[in-house]
Amino acid sequence: MTRHPRKIIIDTDPGQDDAFAILLALASPEELDVLGICAVAGNVPLNWTERNARVICELAGKPQTKVFAGCDAPLKRPLVTAEHVHGKTGLDGPVMAEPTMPLQPGHAVDFLIDTLRREPSGTVTLCPLGPLTNIATAFLKAPDIVGRVQEIVLMGGAYFEVGNITPAAEFNIYVDPEAAEVVFKAGVPLVVMPLDVTHKVLTNRARVEAFRALGTNVGRVAAEWADFFERFDMAKYGMDGAPLHDPCVIAYLLQPGLFKGRHINVEIETQSDLTLGMTVADWWGVTNRKANAMFMGAVDADGFFALLTDRLGRP
Ligand code: RIB
Ligand code: CA
Repeated sequence: MTRHPRKIIIDTDPGQDDAFAILLALASPEELDVLGICAVAGNVPLNWTERNARVICELAGKPQTKVFAGCDAPLKRPLVTAEHVHGKTGLDGPVMAEPTMPLQPGHAVDFLIDTLRREPSGTVTLCPLGPLTNIATAFLKAPDIVGRVQEIVLMGGAYFEVGNITPAAEFNIYVDPEAAEVVFKAGVPLVVMPLDVTHKVLTNRARVEAFRALGTNVGRVAAEWADFFERFDMAKYGMDGAPLHDPCVIAYLLQPGLFKGRHINVEIETQSDLTLGMTVADWWGVTNRKANAMFMGAVDADGFFALLTDRLGRP
């Protein structure tokens, strides 16, 4: 029986780590059919994230990929960005030429709605790699699409690893906690890649040199993105590299056995200024709250980097 590639939509705020995820997805056409890429404001403003998504698609040799611009601000709060991590452009490190591929007309939220209404129910997986503003806006604007989503596999949140933008919150959730609350309460099957996992897939010299040793433009650019991106986390955490957060989402779709977690209840703090955006994960089952997320806690890091490097090396 021929296996058809899994249909996915990537929602993203590139970001060097988002770029690794998009490259990994586009290098895996036998397993993944990327219906479109939706840019959202997050690491950097929307004018940069939509531009960066197109830069990455052209680097991947896939200029026909559909890229849409989405929401330029959270549902109800001012945008918080992360240039201190990703640089002014969001893809600092190598100098990248301006993209020539077009940005699709129309809003990313309408692309999400139209695609989920068009494709057979239960056949499209959403892969959010940034703040959940686009996804939540689509769910609020068209509640009929919620039950049509096959699964949401997202990067966001933290429990044992605590926060990276505040002591309590991870960046993607913190930027738009109200959007995260909509998504976590929507009832769609949810797989969460929190900092608890992504802080275990750290670049190090050998891993970055393995990108460079591919001897391709993709390998060179990937190594230079890692060289830039890792300086912040190395200084902050004393790590010997940087966590490649977002490609964990795509790696899960390709090789789910790389990851281990628990199906638990996860709720979002939206009221307290002190803990705003915290993912309150009932890891030990101390409440009667209904489980709503497969919350990942462990990963085979060597297997992850072997997969990533192999796919980045594909022509
Ligand atoms: O906290 C890490 C997450 O925030 C990653 O998705 C990174 O790209 C930023 O969006
Ligand atoms: Ca991201």
